[in-house]
Amino acid sequence: MPADQPALFTPLTIRGRRFRNRVTISPMCQHAGRDGFATDWHLVHYGKFALGGAALVLTESTAVSADSRVGLADLGLWSDDHVPGLKRIADFVHDHGALMGVQIAHSGRKAFSKPLWEGGRALSPEALDAMGADWRRVGPSAIAASGEWSVPEALSAAQIAEITQQHVDAARRADAAGMDVLELHFGHGYLVASFLSPISNHRDDAYGGGLDGRMRLAIEITEATRAAWPEDKPLFVRLSCVDGAEGGWSLDDSVVLAQRLRDLGADVIDCSSGGLSEETRRSNVPRGFGFQVPYAARIRKEIGIPTQAVGLITGPEQAEQIVAGGQADLVAIGRAALEDPYWPAHAARALGAEDFALWPLRHGAWLDKREPVLRKLTEEAAQ
Ligand SMILES: Cc1cc2nc3c(=O)[nH]c(=O)nc-3n(C[C@H](O)[C@H](O)[C@H](O)COP(=O)(O)O)c2cc1C
Repeated sequence: MPADQPALFTPLTIRGRRFRNRVTISPMCQHAGRDGFATDWHLVHYGKFALGGAALVLTESTAVSADSRVGLADLGLWSDDHVPGLKRIADFVHDHGALMGVQIAHSGRKAFSKPLWEGGRALSPEALDAMGADWRRVGPSAIAASGEWSVPEALSAAQIAEITQQHVDAARRADAAGMDVLELHFGHGYLVASFLSPISNHRDDAYGGGLDGRMRLAIEITEATRAAWPEDKPLFVRLSCVDGAEGGWSLDDSVVLAQRLRDLGADVIDCSSGGLSEETRRSNVPRGFGFQVPYAARIRKEIGIPTQAVGLITGPEQAEQIVAGGQADLVAIGRAALEDPYWPAHAARALGAEDFALWPLRHGAWLDKREPVLRKLTEEAAQ
């Protein structure tokens, strides 16, 4: 790196973990697990992002219970038996200089849909029963996410406490699996997001009503998992900062919640949006480059908590400006990393790195050695 190192490649320490740069890999469902167990697909898929130079590789949404999966082939952490498979991946990622994080989630009223390549639609109760799946759809109120989803069961206070405990148990297992970061998935219309939004939460008990009631589940899960998650490991929370629908969860609400989460020991707010229902999928949030960055910027500025920006961040200069401009501390790359798992390493070169230090050792040394040869050949060709 040149002396005036780009902000994107400046290390960052949160609690006891050092991020080698500011680029993380965003959680992305793979639908490649078996009964919640990681497969060789996950080892190669997550492993290649560590080889590609990311600071942190976050897993896909990993279910806290068998019946709360986004899709039948999701990763899970509802059993101690799931730990070794994830640990194998974390060990590989660590060997190649990156941190590993797991996103834990309960998918609530949006449990069980098909992968995108099979249409991405909700599985019908009949289809799920025919598959013999252990499934249920639950939420704050008996209100379906949209026409394609069955009506969820409104959770009782006892059932809510059980789900909070499932998050705690998953956090303990994530620690045993060697994860450095725990991310709580409170976005995209899944269980906690559905409690936050007045569109989906019509309860009149302690978990509904005004903002405090609707935030209660988020707060209880954060408090309980923070207590179970080691002091020296960072806790991230992904929020849908806005529902993107009239009368829904707003950015002002997210600012209030972010402050509460910070006070409870959350370290990073990962700023996403939308997903509550079909209506909000076609939301009034225009999807331009970096469209969610303003959420990360406002929460960071007003609450003073580190933020992760995500969403249509595709270019090195764009990512550099987000971090250098103080809009976010970390930049999560999703689909651009599917296209190029070496996105961070390529970004380092594009922003001025003269060597291949971010490449895996076994490759970088050869690329460094080839560099003067390429330069000479290029000069000769230009003459
Ligand atoms: C294949 C795929 C699966 C995804 N699965 C998850 C997920 O499990 N959890 C989550 O919070 N977001 C998920 N997302 C959203 C991404 O994390 C990210 O926020 C979104 O793709 C926008 O970033 P991008 O424009 O860099 O792709 C998924 C996105 C993709 C493309």
